[in-house]
Amino acid sequence: MFLKYILIEMERIINAANRLPITIGDKITVSSGGIVSALEGVRQDYEMIWLGWPGDVIEGRKNQQHIKNLLFEKHGCQPVFLSNQEIEGYYHGFSNSTLWPIMHYRPYFINYQSQWWEQYKIVNRKFAHAILKIAKKGDLVWVHDYQLMLVPEMLKQSGMNLKIGFFLHTPFPSYEVFRCHPQRKELLTGMLGADLVGFHTFGYVRHFRSSAIRLLGVECDTMVVNNEGRKCRLGVFPIGADVQSFSTEMKTERFEKKLNEFRNIFKGKKIVLSVERLDYSKGIMQKLKAIDGFLEKRKNKNNIVFIFINIPSREQVPEYHQLRQEIESFVGRLNGKHATVKNTPIHFIYQSLEFTELCALYNIADIAMVTPLIDGMNLVAKEYVACKPDYDGVLLLSEFAGAANELFQAFIVNPYDVESMVQALELALEIPADDVKRRMNGLYERVVQFDAKYWAKSFINELNKIEVISSIAPKKINVYNELFRKIKKSRKAAFFLDYDGTLCGIQDDPDKAAPDKNLKYLLEQLEKKKSIDTYLISGRTEKDLEKWLGKYHITLIAEHGFSYRSPETHRWSRIVRHADLSWKNPVKEILQQHVGTTQGSFVEEKVSSLTWHYRKADPEFGLINAQQLMSLFMEMLSNMPVEVHHGKKIVEVKSMHANKGSALMKFADGKSKYDFVLCAGDDQTDENMFKVNDERLFKIKVGQGPTEAQYTIDSPKEFLNILLKVIARMK
Ligand code: UDP
Ligand code: G6P
Repeated sequence: MFLKYILIEMERIINAANRLPITIGDKITVSSGGIVSALEGVRQDYEMIWLGWPGDVIEGRKNQQHIKNLLFEKHGCQPVFLSNQEIEGYYHGFSNSTLWPIMHYRPYFINYQSQWWEQYKIVNRKFAHAILKIAKKGDLVWVHDYQLMLVPEMLKQSGMNLKIGFFLHTPFPSYEVFRCHPQRKELLTGMLGADLVGFHTFGYVRHFRSSAIRLLGVECDTMVVNNEGRKCRLGVFPIGADVQSFSTEMKTERFEKKLNEFRNIFKGKKIVLSVERLDYSKGIMQKLKAIDGFLEKRKNKNNIVFIFINIPSREQVPEYHQLRQEIESFVGRLNGKHATVKNTPIHFIYQSLEFTELCALYNIADIAMVTPLIDGMNLVAKEYVACKPDYDGVLLLSEFAGAANELFQAFIVNPYDVESMVQALELALEIPADDVKRRMNGLYERVVQFDAKYWAKSFINELNKIEVISSIAPKKINVYNELFRKIKKSRKAAFFLDYDGTLCGIQDDPDKAAPDKNLKYLLEQLEKKKSIDTYLISGRTEKDLEKWLGKYHITLIAEHGFSYRSPETHRWSRIVRHADLSWKNPVKEILQQHVGTTQGSFVEEKVSSLTWHYRKADPEFGLINAQQLMSLFMEMLSNMPVEVHHGKKIVEVKSMHANKGSALMKFADGKSKYDFVLCAGDDQTDENMFKVNDERLFKIKVGQGPTEAQYTIDSPKEFLNILLKVIARMK
């Protein structure tokens, strides 16, 4: 198991997160939050360049250069400088006032301004540029969190051969919530630019997948999203605590000193600890209400203290500011109500702590109350456990924290049910010492084994395993000149032209894809050219092709190469004479059953194929049924001469003999009269022509996406114009 995670020494990783691990302000401080803590624990294992915002506006070239040098030399960081306007729009605005509430199921906290979206795009682009400036081919790039969701796609679009990972540190909310976001589609597309997208729990993967299927119409396997032919893998990587730093700190003298100090201060009292950024996702008010309820019932109020630490966070966002006031006034009232001459029950601290103090508090606390309303993971819970090598503490943990999926020996509580939290607190104070030890022992083993290093290494290893196919697009040189030059040299040429999406734009209604004036003119010119034989090669039926193209003296090839019509006799023949179609009836019966159970789906029948369409069905239900059909057919038809294919909202079973590549070779093999062969198409079925290895072939893909063609052209309109120009010049 362990061997799996041994890496080649000092791999180079470009790490991009909104915040650098250090913040430049009036003084230089360590940044707060989960990402910083986790990644700090693994920086020594990799050659890691950390790109991020230094946390303040740094004005003037000279100042910026000074900070740049300082950050790079001392901390291996590359600052991405932001202006006041960018901080306002991208950070306080779009990231923390729009996205954060959506990701944490608080749509009623959403504020939105369209200029924030503009700033978000600008800053994401700034990050992408900064990454590309230092990236080398083959580098791993790891992008973090909701502030940088557009960066992966921006990097992918650059065409540079990078392995791009994205990790979301927040929850991914249910589709019903995520769909509220005005830029839901752009954000998903941005994330899908990554080769690997990681989440803390499978629940978040499920929501992400469901949103991608419903909002973008993409196809997904359980852990892979197929986006326009590009694969984006999904993974579950629960973040761990930086255990090593805590263990090392606990061996220092300064730690012992701090611990003794605290022991003296809190002598004879039970300590209940609470540490979190002051954030509405953390359920702070609910926790205070539970403490109030607990103290109401407690007889002896002198022997318990609640150390309540709120780390200042995002104070410019009105909701945070308001919450702070609410908390402070509630704490004031609670202390007034429950204090005795000997004890003030709530020790409220609105400040960051020194690391030694934090360790000592974790270590000394009898109970930690970690009760967020929702939290991606929650590292505080794991850190508390990591500081309990003697197993002497109880963790009260919200079922809504990602950590609850793994820390099941904790007391799991529902923070919305204040009364049950009161009871859990009472129980936690009463349970026998050996029970405390037993529970904490289990938690400790898990937290120590699956720490921050393990998390980072497993993500990086998974990303490393992915083979990134060069996304550099095929040549987009002047196709017209190249094509003309070759045709001019040729004595006899063949044109294999796909119809829909190649000669004619894709229509919502396939019956409306009749040839327009230009296409008709082109076909008339082509049938007159003696030096060119034209083959119109399509997935459509013989009947469809006859309807629109029947009058031209060109070869029509129907059903992806199953049958053809001769240009002279206008008679249809099968390309493979004795194709076995005995599989059709049983397949049809099964597909009809699925039509009955999957509302909105239907079957399309051709001579050589049966296709089950589910584009009008519920996308997720359609997908489940498609996957079931696929596994059923794979087994049932394994000895049949068919190809089973799961494509864009379809499951298709077709005769193996219906193949555009084989059809092309039938008419244009080495023995044929052709010294030049043009083949053009737009989709997966045309790739069978592009796969044919023959020097005479000139392969053009019309449209976007990965292809084996040598050339790409943006649209059918552009392709038609090129052909018209070439033909005109040949006269
Ligand atoms: N933390 C901090 N400063 C403090 C106290 C704690 O930076 O004064 C750290 C804490 O050690 C933990 C992180 O802040 O690693 C909080 O991470 P968590 O996942 O619990 O919540 P987040 O703040 O990321 O929402
Ligand atoms: C959470 C977010 C991080 C963020 C951290 C601190 O952990 O997931 O992306 O860095 O909070 O928030 P801040 O706004 O201060 O960077």
